[in-house]
Amino acid sequence: MDIFRIEGPVRLSGSVSINGSKNASLPIMAAAILGEGKSSLAPVPRLSDISVFSQLLEQLGCRVVKSSDRRLSIDSTVIDNPVGEYEIVRKMRASICILGPLLARCRRAEVSMPGGCAIGDRPINLHLRGLRELGARIHLKNGYIVAQAPNGLTGKEIFLGGPFGSTVLGTANVLMAATLAKGRTTIESAACEPEIVNLAHGLQNMGAKISGIGSPRLVVEGVKQLHPAEFEIIPDRIEAGTFMAAAAITQGELRLQNCRLDHMMAVVDKLRNIGVTIEPEDNDCMVARTGPIRPADITTQQYPGFPTDLQAQLMALLSLAEGNSVIVEKVFPDRFMHVAELNRMAANLRKEGPAVIVAGVKKLTAAPVMASDLRASAALVLAGLAAEGTTTVNRVYHIDRGYERIEEKLNPLGAKITRESI
Ligand code: EPU
Repeated sequence: MDIFRIEGPVRLSGSVSINGSKNASLPIMAAAILGEGKSSLAPVPRLSDISVFSQLLEQLGCRVVKSSDRRLSIDSTVIDNPVGEYEIVRKMRASICILGPLLARCRRAEVSMPGGCAIGDRPINLHLRGLRELGARIHLKNGYIVAQAPNGLTGKEIFLGGPFGSTVLGTANVLMAATLAKGRTTIESAACEPEIVNLAHGLQNMGAKISGIGSPRLVVEGVKQLHPAEFEIIPDRIEAGTFMAAAAITQGELRLQNCRLDHMMAVVDKLRNIGVTIEPEDNDCMVARTGPIRPADITTQQYPGFPTDLQAQLMALLSLAEGNSVIVEKVFPDRFMHVAELNRMAANLRKEGPAVIVAGVKKLTAAPVMASDLRASAALVLAGLAAEGTTTVNRVYHIDRGYERIEEKLNPLGAKITRESI
């Protein structure tokens, strides 16, 4: 198991390139199931989640090949085992998004039911409801979701909203299943995230007929067959936002290459109000902070609102603001495992139901802390960059799921992070 030792405080400066998006790559890898033959996607980040998803596809019968130019080829000519095994699904909940494409292509699928999660309850009732509406028969057997559609799926008008609004992977599942259903499917309250737009455009390249892309109402005219395609993956808006927060918390100046500000308007707006300068320059974006960190109120929401995947990182930043901030989590109301860890570094955070009151402090101090999930661990790394002393972050494997060798990206910018195996 690896740990990080982070010496702080440091000031970051320089240029960093943002990777292709993890959360766009995963459902697009699942989409490759739909078109019999060889698809490929790029640029794909080198992350453990991508390796785990590749293993999952290989278990189904696909051949997956990584090449040095960050291209991933998936040959789905043969799918002879439409089963998502527990051993893989328990490592990564996103595995659930093979369910829709398998049902559409093989007319049957068995996928282990995802279990508990560090960021709170993560039901999949909306995925199952949507697939049932398309005509699938679904039951639970020995911890596995067993889904069948012996006569194929049939298009339907489906409302996919739940108590917390739209669902990203639920929309991906139902959308992929609907591409090969008979007739028209309307998905109302569909997720509008850029990753879903990326998926929908990819499906169009495979021959799917989809309109309303980017809106909460997707209309799909089912086709008989899809063909393999080449997919272009969008830049990772969460990695970009994390580096913006890193520039801000260290009073640094960073040039972000391969960054889509148009996917990040809520984040850019919030950071500018906090006192961070963000300016597009050619195809890059310059991020800097010179003045104090101003407090801010943040409410996480579905896109185009402020993303839950940047809540923890902004909390680390606001813990050093000149005043009090309130952060309300409306997507995953229990996603606050980082609060107690940041308080160990002398932040002053108080959780009140699905909200945290952040009383700004003058400085953070180093401490041993524990990473609990991917984004929470990123927040601890950010805090470690700004804190006085040597912070030790345990369970770094969480961060490796979603950030490609983050220390190798931060160190050339002025960070002092060492990775040690214990
Ligand atoms: N929900 C339901 N029923 C469902 C599905 C979701 O009630 O059937 C609820 C969830 O409990 C939550 C809300 O709906 O309250 C939204 O969850 P969503 O389904 O959108 O989350 P997800 O699709 O499972 C993806 C990302 C997450 C990201 C969320 C929200 C991937 C692989 N995962 O998860 O990313 O936080 O959308 O934007 O795309 C991360 O990268 O660290 C991460 C957790």
